[in-house]
Amino acid sequence: QETIKVGLMGLGTVGSGVYQVLNENGSEIALRASGPIEIAKILVRDMEKERAIRVPGQLFTTDPYELVNDPEIDVIVEVMGGFENTLEILLAAIERKKSVVTANKDLIAVHGHELMDKAANAGVDFLFEASVAGGIPIIRPLIHCLAGNRIEEIMGIINGTTNFILSKMTNEKVSFAAALQEAQELGYAEADPTSDVEGLDAARKIAILASLAFNSQVTFSDVTVKGISSVTDRDVMYADQLGYVVKLIARAREVDGEIEAIVRPTFVPKDHPLAAVGGAYNAVFVKGNAVGEAMFHGLGAGSLPTASAVVGDIIEAVRNIHAGVRGKVLATSYHEKPIRSEAE
Ligand code: NDP
Ligand code: HSE
Repeated sequence: QETIKVGLMGLGTVGSGVYQVLNENGSEIALRASGPIEIAKILVRDMEKERAIRVPGQLFTTDPYELVNDPEIDVIVEVMGGFENTLEILLAAIERKKSVVTANKDLIAVHGHELMDKAANAGVDFLFEASVAGGIPIIRPLIHCLAGNRIEEIMGIINGTTNFILSKMTNEKVSFAAALQEAQELGYAEADPTSDVEGLDAARKIAILASLAFNSQVTFSDVTVKGISSVTDRDVMYADQLGYVVKLIARAREVDGEIEAIVRPTFVPKDHPLAAVGGAYNAVFVKGNAVGEAMFHGLGAGSLPTASAVVGDIIEAVRNIHAGVRGKVLATSYHEKPIRSEAE
């Protein structure tokens, strides 16, 4: 079978995991993808940086257009982050008929529909399973397996960093600052951890889930957000004494034809399944009118869990190239639905 070449943009926490998974599981992946996959080029910021994994130096470049303009590369994997510049690069890649796999929720929560439309028109795939809840399969289940349902509500813990911090504060009496530092060292936090602690990352993710669940266009600015920066040791202690734990909960539902999306710290009863979700784990409940309630649980951040989702998307993109069905997997049509801006 023909080898499909991939351009990897980013070799940080997630990119290193992707490189490792593609190499370690190469033979199984080749079977599942209907042929071998090779990383042909890697985009980084600093070619001289010491890296935790060994990578042949000739793969590195600092010019994204070396990947975008390479006619041998069929799939671009974007795990570098960034916004305006990254959008421009991905649009250029789509224009040059490359399928795109990305974990960039910042971008998808604002420009997701534009990117999906452009990819569909260009006849290439645009896949983003890793953008919500790290290693947990949630995007594809929503789009495919639960597609027969009218989704009534999506609710859960979708930020690993804040769940790690709150769990440490609750179970080990660790300070907020020390727990955040540990989350950063473990590769859970965003480059700017304000996104995590102020609830912005969770807001981006619930916007993505709400858009897919309610066939609508919910963007980051539509979500009512409160993060955990004001949660104190005392709040955590009182919650504990009253039989609760504090969790950062994201919720989206459709009420009378309007979409409501909220992120906020919440007292969760200790006997609720979400109370037991600790560390960087995430859990998402999806309520559908046919399936009832389904719960998805697993690691929501970190190198290998996130790489698991990214590599799953790479395999799908490669499989679709071999099968000649690129650009046909995601439905891009949606209705304009009003957003409830000041949710109760
Ligand atoms: P890191 O900061 O660990 O890695 C970013 C990588 O991209 C680095 O290799 C960096 O190069 C490279 N890079 C960044 N900007 C540029 C640029 N302008 N030009 C060239 N190379 C660049 O980030 P993460 O791996 O943690 O996250 C990557 C993406 O994945 C983000 O969008 C994030 O939101 C998302 N994500 C992260 C998860 C996680 O658990 N960490 C989980 C799910 C999604 P260099 O190494 O030279 O500095
Ligand atoms: N910073 C994010 C989190 C990474 O902690 O959940 C996964 O999207």
